[in-house]
Amino acid sequence: MAIVRVALDARSYDIMIEQGALDRAGDHLARYARKGRLVVVTDEHVARAQLPRLEASLRAAGIAVEPIILPAGEQTKSWRHLEQLLDALLALEIERGDHVVALGGGVIGDLVGFAASILKRGCHFVQVPTTLLAQVDSSVGGKTAINAAAGKNLIGSFHQPSFVLIDPITLDTLPARETRAGYAEVVKYGLIDDPDFFAWCETEGHRLLAGDPQARKYAIGKSVAAKAAIVADDERETSGRRALLNLGHTFGHALEADTGFSDTLLHGEAVAAGMALAFRYSARLRLCAQEDAERVTAHLKAVKLPYNLATAHVKADGAALVAHMLHDKKMAAGTLPFLLARGIGKTFLSKDVVLSDVAAFLDEERAAAG
Ligand code: NAD
Ligand code: GLY
Repeated sequence: MAIVRVALDARSYDIMIEQGALDRAGDHLARYARKGRLVVVTDEHVARAQLPRLEASLRAAGIAVEPIILPAGEQTKSWRHLEQLLDALLALEIERGDHVVALGGGVIGDLVGFAASILKRGCHFVQVPTTLLAQVDSSVGGKTAINAAAGKNLIGSFHQPSFVLIDPITLDTLPARETRAGYAEVVKYGLIDDPDFFAWCETEGHRLLAGDPQARKYAIGKSVAAKAAIVADDERETSGRRALLNLGHTFGHALEADTGFSDTLLHGEAVAAGMALAFRYSARLRLCAQEDAERVTAHLKAVKLPYNLATAHVKADGAALVAHMLHDKKMAAGTLPFLLARGIGKTFLSKDVVLSDVAAFLDEERAAAG
Protein backbone atom coordinates (compact mmCIF):
# COMPACT_ATOMS: atom_id res chain seq x y z
CA MET A 1 0.00 0.00 0.00
CA ALA A 2 1.21 3.53 -0.74
CA ILE A 3 -0.09 6.84 0.55
CA VAL A 4 0.47 10.18 -1.15
CA ARG A 5 -0.56 13.33 0.68
CA VAL A 6 -2.00 16.35 -1.11
CA ALA A 7 -0.84 19.18 1.14
CA LEU A 8 -3.42 21.96 1.05
CA ASP A 9 -3.69 23.19 4.65
CA ALA A 10 -7.23 22.56 5.89
CA ARG A 11 -8.13 20.91 2.58
CA SER A 12 -5.27 18.37 2.72
CA TYR A 13 -6.09 14.74 1.96
CA ASP A 14 -4.56 11.34 1.30
CA ILE A 15 -4.48 9.28 -1.86
CA MET A 16 -4.26 5.57 -1.00
CA ILE A 17 -3.07 3.13 -3.67
CA GLU A 18 -3.71 -0.45 -2.66
CA GLN A 19 -4.11 -3.62 -4.68
CA GLY A 20 -7.56 -4.95 -3.72
CA ALA A 21 -8.57 -1.79 -1.82
CA LEU A 22 -12.18 -2.12 -2.97
CA ASP A 23 -12.47 -5.41 -1.10
CA ARG A 24 -11.34 -3.58 2.06
CA ALA A 25 -13.48 -0.49 1.46
CA GLY A 26 -15.38 -1.28 4.65
CA ASP A 27 -12.19 -0.45 6.60
CA HIS A 28 -11.03 2.44 4.42
CA LEU A 29 -14.35 4.26 4.11
CA ALA A 30 -16.03 3.52 7.49
CA ARG A 31 -15.11 6.94 8.85
CA TYR A 32 -17.12 8.65 6.04
CA ALA A 33 -20.34 6.70 6.75
CA ARG A 34 -22.62 8.89 8.83
CA LYS A 35 -25.24 6.85 10.68
CA GLY A 36 -23.76 3.71 9.12
CA ARG A 37 -24.68 4.63 5.53
CA LEU A 38 -22.85 5.68 2.37
CA VAL A 39 -24.28 6.99 -0.89
CA VAL A 40 -22.25 5.65 -3.84
CA VAL A 41 -22.66 7.34 -7.23
CA THR A 42 -21.51 5.38 -10.25
CA ASP A 43 -22.33 4.70 -13.91
CA GLU A 44 -23.98 1.69 -15.51
CA HIS A 45 -20.74 0.07 -16.68
CA VAL A 46 -18.95 0.46 -13.36
CA ALA A 47 -22.10 -0.62 -11.51
CA ARG A 48 -21.84 -3.95 -13.32
CA ALA A 49 -18.06 -4.31 -13.17
CA GLN A 50 -17.00 -2.95 -9.75
CA LEU A 51 -19.93 -1.84 -7.57
CA PRO A 52 -20.61 -5.40 -6.30
CA ARG A 53 -17.08 -5.55 -4.82
CA LEU A 54 -17.47 -2.20 -3.07
CA GLU A 55 -20.97 -3.00 -1.84
CA ALA A 56 -19.95 -6.40 -0.47
CA SER A 57 -17.09 -4.92 1.49
CA LEU A 58 -19.14 -2.02 2.89
CA ARG A 59 -22.03 -4.31 3.83
CA ALA A 60 -19.67 -6.76 5.52
CA ALA A 61 -18.51 -3.84 7.67
CA GLY A 62 -22.12 -3.04 8.61
CA ILE A 63 -22.37 -0.01 6.31
CA ALA A 64 -25.61 0.35 4.33
CA VAL A 65 -25.09 1.33 0.69
CA GLU A 66 -27.39 3.63 -1.29
CA PRO A 67 -26.28 3.35 -4.94
CA ILE A 68 -27.16 6.02 -7.50
CA ILE A 69 -26.50 4.67 -11.00
CA LEU A 70 -26.22 7.11 -13.92
CA PRO A 71 -25.76 6.44 -17.64
CA ALA A 72 -22.15 5.92 -18.77
CA GLY A 73 -20.49 8.45 -21.06
CA GLU A 74 -19.45 12.06 -21.43
CA GLN A 75 -23.07 13.21 -21.92
CA THR A 76 -23.66 12.46 -18.24
CA LYS A 77 -21.61 15.57 -17.37
CA SER A 78 -24.70 17.66 -18.15
CA TRP A 79 -27.22 19.95 -16.47
CA ARG A 80 -29.82 17.21 -16.82
CA HIS A 81 -27.83 14.59 -14.95
CA LEU A 82 -26.52 17.11 -12.43
CA GLU A 83 -30.13 17.98 -11.58
CA GLN A 84 -31.08 14.30 -11.41
CA LEU A 85 -28.13 13.60 -9.13
CA LEU A 86 -28.81 16.57 -6.83
CA ASP A 87 -32.49 15.57 -6.52
CA ALA A 88 -31.48 11.99 -5.69
CA LEU A 89 -28.98 13.18 -3.05
CA LEU A 90 -31.58 15.52 -1.53
CA ALA A 91 -34.13 12.68 -1.46
CA LEU A 92 -31.56 10.66 0.49
CA GLU A 93 -31.26 13.61 2.93
CA ILE A 94 -27.56 14.20 2.38
CA GLU A 95 -26.39 16.89 4.78
CA ARG A 96 -23.54 19.36 4.62
CA GLY A 97 -21.19 17.26 6.76
CA ASP A 98 -21.86 14.10 4.75
CA HIS A 99 -19.60 12.35 2.25
CA VAL A 100 -20.73 11.07 -1.13
CA VAL A 101 -18.63 8.38 -2.84
CA ALA A 102 -17.80 8.80 -6.56
CA LEU A 103 -17.07 5.33 -8.00
CA GLY A 104 -16.04 5.57 -11.65
CA GLY A 105 -13.97 7.39 -14.23
CA GLY A 106 -13.46 11.09 -14.80
CA VAL A 107 -17.07 11.60 -15.83
CA ILE A 108 -18.50 10.39 -12.50
CA GLY A 109 -15.67 12.05 -10.51
CA ASP A 110 -16.15 15.45 -12.18
CA LEU A 111 -19.95 15.32 -11.89
CA VAL A 112 -20.10 14.11 -8.29
CA GLY A 113 -17.40 16.61 -7.26
CA PHE A 114 -19.40 19.46 -8.76
CA ALA A 115 -22.65 18.25 -7.20
CA ALA A 116 -20.91 17.98 -3.81
CA SER A 117 -19.54 21.51 -4.16
CA ILE A 118 -23.01 23.04 -4.50
CA LEU A 119 -25.29 20.69 -2.55
CA LYS A 120 -26.43 22.56 0.58
CA ARG A 121 -23.59 25.03 -0.20
CA GLY A 122 -21.07 22.23 -0.15
CA CYS A 123 -20.85 18.69 1.17
CA HIS A 124 -17.87 16.31 1.06
CA PHE A 125 -16.94 13.59 -1.40
CA VAL A 126 -14.54 10.68 -1.74
CA GLN A 127 -13.06 9.61 -5.06
CA VAL A 128 -12.82 5.91 -5.89
CA PRO A 129 -11.46 6.15 -9.46
CA THR A 130 -11.83 3.13 -11.74
CA THR A 131 -10.21 4.25 -15.02
CA LEU A 132 -6.47 4.73 -15.49
CA LEU A 133 -7.14 8.35 -16.49
CA ALA A 134 -9.05 8.98 -13.26
CA GLN A 135 -6.48 7.12 -11.13
CA VAL A 136 -3.53 9.13 -12.44
CA ASP A 137 -5.16 12.49 -13.05
CA SER A 138 -8.81 13.49 -12.66
CA SER A 139 -9.50 12.09 -9.16
CA VAL A 140 -6.73 14.29 -7.70
CA GLY A 141 -6.72 18.07 -7.55
CA GLY A 142 -10.33 19.10 -7.09
CA LYS A 143 -11.25 20.26 -10.59
CA THR A 144 -14.95 19.48 -10.99
CA ALA A 145 -17.20 20.28 -13.93
CA ILE A 146 -20.08 19.60 -16.26
CA ASN A 147 -20.17 20.46 -19.95
CA ALA A 148 -22.14 23.34 -21.50
CA ALA A 149 -23.54 23.73 -25.02
CA ALA A 150 -20.68 26.20 -25.57
CA GLY A 151 -17.97 23.68 -24.65
CA LYS A 152 -16.53 21.05 -22.35
CA ASN A 153 -15.95 21.63 -18.63
CA LEU A 154 -17.16 25.24 -18.84
CA ILE A 155 -19.29 25.04 -15.67
CA GLY A 156 -17.53 23.87 -12.55
CA SER A 157 -15.67 24.58 -9.37
CA PHE A 158 -12.56 23.74 -7.41
CA HIS A 159 -13.66 21.34 -4.68
CA GLN A 160 -11.13 18.93 -3.19
CA PRO A 161 -12.14 15.39 -2.25
CA SER A 162 -11.63 14.23 1.36
CA PHE A 163 -9.88 11.03 0.29
CA VAL A 164 -8.91 9.19 -2.89
CA LEU A 165 -8.97 5.38 -2.79
CA ILE A 166 -7.24 3.75 -5.75
CA ASP A 167 -7.51 0.02 -6.40
CA PRO A 168 -5.50 -0.86 -9.53
CA ILE A 169 -7.42 -4.16 -9.77
CA THR A 170 -10.45 -2.19 -10.99
CA LEU A 171 -8.51 -1.70 -14.25
CA ASP A 172 -8.90 -5.43 -14.97
CA THR A 173 -12.41 -4.76 -16.33
CA LEU A 174 -11.58 -1.50 -18.16
CA PRO A 175 -11.62 -1.81 -21.98
CA ALA A 176 -8.07 -1.82 -23.42
CA ARG A 177 -8.73 1.32 -25.47
CA GLU A 178 -9.70 3.25 -22.31
CA THR A 179 -6.54 2.00 -20.56
CA ARG A 180 -4.39 3.23 -23.46
CA ALA A 181 -6.15 6.61 -23.42
CA GLY A 182 -5.41 6.97 -19.70
CA TYR A 183 -1.82 5.96 -20.32
CA ALA A 184 -1.35 9.17 -22.34
CA GLU A 185 -1.79 11.09 -19.07
CA VAL A 186 0.90 8.89 -17.44
CA VAL A 187 3.36 9.69 -20.23
CA LYS A 188 2.47 13.36 -19.78
CA TYR A 189 4.08 13.47 -16.30
CA GLY A 190 7.38 12.27 -17.75
CA LEU A 191 7.25 14.80 -20.55
CA ILE A 192 6.43 17.68 -18.19
CA ASP A 193 9.41 17.45 -15.86
CA ASP A 194 10.58 13.88 -15.28
CA PRO A 195 12.75 12.54 -18.14
CA ASP A 196 13.62 9.40 -16.12
CA PHE A 197 9.94 8.57 -15.82
CA PHE A 198 9.49 9.05 -19.58
CA ALA A 199 12.42 6.65 -20.10
CA TRP A 200 10.63 4.18 -17.75
CA CYS A 201 7.50 4.54 -19.90
CA GLU A 202 9.54 3.76 -23.02
CA THR A 203 10.89 0.51 -21.59
CA GLU A 204 8.17 -0.58 -19.10
CA GLY A 205 4.98 1.15 -20.30
CA HIS A 206 3.90 -1.97 -22.20
CA ARG A 207 3.88 -3.90 -18.86
CA LEU A 208 1.50 -1.34 -17.38
CA LEU A 209 -0.75 -1.63 -20.43
CA ALA A 210 -0.69 -5.43 -20.13
CA GLY A 211 -1.93 -5.17 -16.53
CA ASP A 212 1.28 -5.99 -14.65
CA PRO A 213 0.52 -5.15 -10.96
CA GLN A 214 4.00 -3.80 -10.15
CA ALA A 215 4.07 -1.57 -13.23
CA ARG A 216 0.58 -0.29 -12.47
CA LYS A 217 1.47 0.49 -8.87
CA TYR A 218 4.69 2.24 -9.84
CA ALA A 219 3.13 4.36 -12.61
CA ILE A 220 0.03 5.32 -10.60
CA GLY A 221 2.21 6.22 -7.59
CA LYS A 222 4.60 8.34 -9.67
CA SER A 223 1.71 10.07 -11.44
CA VAL A 224 -0.31 10.98 -8.35
CA ALA A 225 2.83 12.11 -6.51
CA ALA A 226 3.64 14.42 -9.42
CA LYS A 227 0.10 15.73 -9.57
CA ALA A 228 -0.15 16.15 -5.78
CA ALA A 229 3.03 18.27 -5.76
CA ILE A 230 1.77 20.50 -8.57
CA VAL A 231 -1.69 20.92 -7.00
CA ALA A 232 -0.18 21.72 -3.58
CA ASP A 233 1.90 24.43 -5.26
CA ASP A 234 -0.80 25.94 -7.47
CA GLU A 235 -4.24 24.68 -6.47
CA ARG A 236 -6.24 27.12 -8.62
CA GLU A 237 -3.91 27.32 -11.63
CA THR A 238 -2.90 30.89 -10.90
CA SER A 239 0.91 30.73 -10.87
CA GLY A 240 1.26 28.80 -14.13
CA ARG A 241 2.63 25.60 -12.55
CA ARG A 242 -0.67 23.69 -12.66
CA ALA A 243 -1.09 24.83 -16.27
CA LEU A 244 1.81 22.47 -17.12
CA LEU A 245 -0.70 19.63 -16.65
CA ASN A 246 -2.35 20.90 -19.82
CA LEU A 247 0.55 19.69 -21.98
CA GLY A 248 -0.97 18.46 -25.25
CA HIS A 249 -4.40 19.77 -24.29
CA THR A 250 -4.57 22.87 -26.53
CA PHE A 251 -3.78 20.89 -29.68
CA GLY A 252 -5.80 18.01 -28.21
CA HIS A 253 -8.84 20.22 -27.58
CA ALA A 254 -8.86 21.26 -31.25
CA LEU A 255 -8.65 17.60 -32.33
CA GLU A 256 -11.48 16.62 -29.95
CA ALA A 257 -13.61 19.52 -31.19
CA ASP A 258 -13.00 18.50 -34.82
CA THR A 259 -14.08 14.94 -34.08
CA GLY A 260 -17.15 16.19 -32.20
CA PHE A 261 -16.00 15.13 -28.69
CA SER A 262 -17.07 11.64 -29.70
CA ASP A 263 -15.83 8.07 -29.45
CA THR A 264 -13.85 8.72 -32.64
CA LEU A 265 -11.19 10.26 -30.41
CA LEU A 266 -11.19 9.77 -26.62
CA HIS A 267 -9.84 12.59 -24.43
CA GLY A 268 -6.62 10.72 -23.60
CA GLU A 269 -6.10 9.87 -27.27
CA ALA A 270 -6.45 13.56 -28.15
CA VAL A 271 -3.92 14.40 -25.43
CA ALA A 272 -1.49 11.84 -26.90
CA ALA A 273 -1.67 13.33 -30.39
CA GLY A 274 -1.62 16.81 -28.85
CA MET A 275 1.62 16.07 -26.96
CA ALA A 276 3.26 14.74 -30.14
CA LEU A 277 2.17 17.90 -31.97
CA ALA A 278 3.42 20.14 -29.14
CA PHE A 279 6.86 18.48 -29.28
CA ARG A 280 7.06 18.58 -33.08
CA TYR A 281 5.98 22.24 -33.04
CA SER A 282 8.62 22.97 -30.38
CA ALA A 283 11.24 21.28 -32.62
CA ARG A 284 10.04 23.34 -35.60
CA LEU A 285 10.58 26.49 -33.51
CA ARG A 286 14.05 25.10 -32.67
CA LEU A 287 13.16 25.13 -28.98
CA CYS A 288 13.75 21.42 -28.59
CA ALA A 289 15.90 18.83 -30.37
CA GLN A 290 14.32 16.98 -33.27
CA GLU A 291 15.37 13.68 -31.65
CA ASP A 292 13.27 14.48 -28.55
CA ALA A 293 10.18 15.10 -30.68
CA GLU A 294 10.92 11.85 -32.53
CA ARG A 295 11.21 9.91 -29.24
CA VAL A 296 7.79 11.17 -28.13
CA THR A 297 6.21 10.27 -31.45
CA ALA A 298 7.90 6.85 -31.52
CA HIS A 299 6.69 5.92 -28.02
CA LEU A 300 3.08 6.94 -28.66
CA LYS A 301 3.17 5.01 -31.94
CA ALA A 302 4.66 1.96 -30.17
CA VAL A 303 1.77 1.81 -27.69
CA LYS A 304 -0.80 2.39 -30.46
CA LEU A 305 -1.90 5.84 -29.37
CA PRO A 306 -2.62 8.55 -31.97
CA TYR A 307 0.46 10.63 -32.75
CA ASN A 308 -0.57 12.82 -35.70
CA LEU A 309 -3.65 14.24 -37.42
CA ALA A 310 -4.25 11.12 -39.52
CA THR A 311 -4.09 8.68 -36.59
CA ALA A 312 -6.37 11.06 -34.64
CA HIS A 313 -8.88 10.87 -37.54
CA VAL A 314 -8.73 14.65 -37.99
CA LYS A 315 -9.34 16.06 -41.45
CA ALA A 316 -9.68 19.82 -40.77
CA ASP A 317 -7.06 22.29 -41.98
CA GLY A 318 -4.85 24.44 -39.77
CA ALA A 319 -7.16 27.47 -39.79
CA ALA A 320 -10.17 25.40 -38.68
CA LEU A 321 -8.18 23.72 -35.90
CA VAL A 322 -6.86 27.05 -34.63
CA ALA A 323 -10.44 28.38 -34.64
CA HIS A 324 -11.35 25.52 -32.26
CA MET A 325 -8.42 26.49 -30.03
CA LEU A 326 -9.85 29.99 -29.68
CA HIS A 327 -12.90 28.50 -27.95
CA ASP A 328 -10.71 26.73 -25.39
CA LYS A 329 -11.46 27.81 -21.83
CA LYS A 330 -7.73 28.41 -21.32
CA MET A 331 -8.07 31.58 -23.43
CA ALA A 332 -7.32 34.55 -21.15
CA ALA A 333 -7.31 38.24 -22.05
CA GLY A 334 -7.42 37.32 -25.74
CA THR A 335 -4.25 35.20 -25.69
CA LEU A 336 -3.93 31.44 -25.67
CA PRO A 337 -1.18 30.11 -23.40
CA PHE A 338 0.61 27.21 -25.13
CA LEU A 339 2.57 24.40 -23.50
CA LEU A 340 5.82 23.92 -25.43
CA ALA A 341 9.01 22.02 -24.60
CA ARG A 342 12.74 22.64 -24.54
CA GLY A 343 13.23 18.87 -24.40
CA ILE A 344 11.80 15.79 -22.71
CA GLY A 345 10.95 16.80 -19.14
CA LYS A 346 11.34 20.48 -19.98
CA THR A 347 7.80 21.69 -20.64
CA PHE A 348 7.09 25.41 -20.25
CA LEU A 349 4.22 27.82 -20.73
CA SER A 350 4.62 30.15 -23.69
CA LYS A 351 2.47 33.19 -24.27
CA ASP A 352 4.30 34.14 -27.48
CA VAL A 353 2.81 31.62 -29.84
CA VAL A 354 1.59 33.12 -33.12
CA LEU A 355 -1.62 31.35 -34.05
CA SER A 356 -1.18 31.87 -37.81
CA ASP A 357 2.15 30.03 -37.47
CA VAL A 358 0.43 27.20 -35.57
CA ALA A 359 -2.09 26.98 -38.43
CA ALA A 360 0.77 26.79 -40.97
CA PHE A 361 2.44 24.03 -38.89
CA LEU A 362 -0.81 22.05 -38.77
CA ASP A 363 -1.18 22.36 -42.56
CA GLU A 364 2.38 20.99 -42.94
CA GLU A 365 1.46 18.13 -40.57
CA ARG A 366 -1.66 17.45 -42.64
CA ALA A 367 0.32 17.36 -45.86
CA ALA A 368 3.01 15.12 -44.32
CA ALA A 369 0.45 12.66 -42.91
CA GLY A 370 -1.14 12.42 -46.38
P1 NAD B 1 -15.25 7.85 -18.27
O1 NAD B 1 -15.52 8.24 -16.90
O2 NAD B 1 -16.30 8.12 -19.30
O3 NAD B 1 -14.89 6.29 -18.32
C1 NAD B 1 -14.61 5.69 -19.55
C2 NAD B 1 -15.50 4.47 -19.79
O4 NAD B 1 -15.03 3.40 -18.99
C3 NAD B 1 -16.96 4.66 -19.43
O5 NAD B 1 -17.75 3.94 -20.35
C4 NAD B 1 -17.06 3.99 -18.05
O6 NAD B 1 -18.35 3.53 -17.79
C5 NAD B 1 -16.09 2.87 -18.20
N1 NAD B 1 -15.47 2.38 -16.98
C6 NAD B 1 -14.91 3.13 -15.99
N2 NAD B 1 -14.27 2.34 -15.13
C7 NAD B 1 -14.44 1.07 -15.55
C8 NAD B 1 -14.00 -0.19 -15.08
N3 NAD B 1 -13.18 -0.29 -14.03
N4 NAD B 1 -14.40 -1.30 -15.74
C9 NAD B 1 -15.18 -1.19 -16.85
N5 NAD B 1 -15.60 -0.03 -17.37
C10 NAD B 1 -15.22 1.08 -16.73
O7 NAD B 1 -13.91 8.51 -18.86
P2 NAD B 1 -12.49 8.90 -18.22
O8 NAD B 1 -11.53 8.78 -19.33
O9 NAD B 1 -12.24 8.21 -16.94
O10 NAD B 1 -12.69 10.44 -17.86
C11 NAD B 1 -12.89 11.40 -18.86
C12 NAD B 1 -13.44 12.64 -18.20
O11 NAD B 1 -12.49 13.11 -17.25
C13 NAD B 1 -13.68 13.79 -19.17
O12 NAD B 1 -14.97 14.32 -18.91
C14 NAD B 1 -12.61 14.81 -18.80
O13 NAD B 1 -13.03 16.13 -19.02
C15 NAD B 1 -12.40 14.52 -17.34
N6 NAD B 1 -11.08 14.92 -16.80
C16 NAD B 1 -11.07 15.63 -15.65
C17 NAD B 1 -9.87 16.00 -15.09
C18 NAD B 1 -9.86 16.74 -13.78
O14 NAD B 1 -8.78 17.19 -13.36
N7 NAD B 1 -10.99 16.88 -13.12
C19 NAD B 1 -8.66 15.64 -15.70
C20 NAD B 1 -8.71 14.90 -16.87
C21 NAD B 1 -9.94 14.53 -17.42
N1 GLY C 1 -5.94 17.74 -15.50
C1 GLY C 1 -5.50 19.09 -15.36
C2 GLY C 1 -5.54 19.58 -13.96
O1 GLY C 1 -5.98 18.89 -13.07
O2 GLY C 1 -5.17 20.69 -13.71
